[in-house]
Amino acid sequence: MGVYNEDNVHGRQIIAEPERAFDLEGIRNDFPILSTVARGKPLVYLDNAATTQKPNVVIDVMDRYYRSQNSNVHRGVHYLSEVATDKYEAARSTVRRFINARNEKEIVFVRGATEGVNLVATSYGQQNLKAGDEILISAMEHHSNIVPWQLLCESIGAKLRVIPMSNRGELKLEECERLITERTKLVALVHVSNALGTVNPVREIIAMAHGKNVPVLLDGAQAIPHLRVDVQELDCDFYAFSGHKVFGPTGIGVLYGKEHLLNSMPPYQSGGDMIKSVTFERTTFNDLPYKFEAGTPNIAGSIGLAAALDYVGAIGFETISSYERDLLEYATDALLSVKGVTIIGTASEKAGVVSFVMKDVHPHDIGTIVDQEGVAIRTGHHCAQPVMERFGVPATARASLAFYNTREDIDALVNALFKVHEVFG
Ligand code: ALA
Repeated sequence: MGVYNEDNVHGRQIIAEPERAFDLEGIRNDFPILSTVARGKPLVYLDNAATTQKPNVVIDVMDRYYRSQNSNVHRGVHYLSEVATDKYEAARSTVRRFINARNEKEIVFVRGATEGVNLVATSYGQQNLKAGDEILISAMEHHSNIVPWQLLCESIGAKLRVIPMSNRGELKLEECERLITERTKLVALVHVSNALGTVNPVREIIAMAHGKNVPVLLDGAQAIPHLRVDVQELDCDFYAFSGHKVFGPTGIGVLYGKEHLLNSMPPYQSGGDMIKSVTFERTTFNDLPYKFEAGTPNIAGSIGLAAALDYVGAIGFETISSYERDLLEYATDALLSVKGVTIIGTASEKAGVVSFVMKDVHPHDIGTIVDQEGVAIRTGHHCAQPVMERFGVPATARASLAFYNTREDIDALVNALFKVHEVFG
């Protein structure tokens, strides 16, 4: 079975190796898209919070899967079906190891963090909440961790409460403590803010919530590429993240849930593979995690995600965090040296994101002008309109970092901002 040997070379065993030294040039060479020429200039990709780029190992395993391994999972006795099933389940084990879940039953493949939150809101929410109950979120949530709870609240008559934040973009913990009451039935919190970069003190908040028997869901979409996530150490009850934010493909993500909670929850979607038996009178549901994976899953996506996690695991979070901390500090100082720049989000604990505004220039104009220099940043409300409202800005420009970014990338952004000054005088 040659395919398995190939994979051992490309991924799954690498995660167990000791962290290797940081070879920036080698890493950049692993990402073919980084040699793109954009608007006649070398691409400077600083939009990693929107989506990250993919290393060759991810592209290659997905290509190989479709060329020589494609089949449906859990359904066939034939050779290819067995290969595809083994790979899909091996990908689940890779995810389990990556976030240190207790077992594979706790790893549900979904489309992304958004679907993970929707699954919990619909399944857990409809089953466990009633009129008058409260869900506590924070002032810095992405829309994907606001709207599903609003819809739930509307359908059952529950209330949404919001932990406020300071002018630096840090959650007010004393307010949080006050807001967790006997009415609170769930806390749903972003781990790292996509709009501000704040790393929230999730351990403290989880301890507060658990002190009152309230489960906690973490939206880990922006944390997973920057921080080591250990769900047992965090003791979160649910953790959702997207593959494409961690150098994997789009359309695949993970919902981690504690086994006893997932077991107690009704199915989210229904159809093939999530059942044990079906008659016209009655259906019995499959075991975890399949109960939550109706229909043919994103098999190639899961394999690509596993390759991405192995790739990140081989570099190691100690290395990634220390490199990115330095780069973030460099980026912050460099941007502040540009006349008229104000940084939105100055928390003491940040990861990967510098959101900023420039006096008298709309962020969309900043984005358009720097794009002419080959620099990709995101401008807008970043799917976090309440954050913009809190800071009294219509939008921000956002540079978001990954471990393949360099100080030269930041210099290119700063030089492009000088062009903005030239245009706007
Ligand atoms: N949530 C993604 C971002 O922050 C799309 O850009």
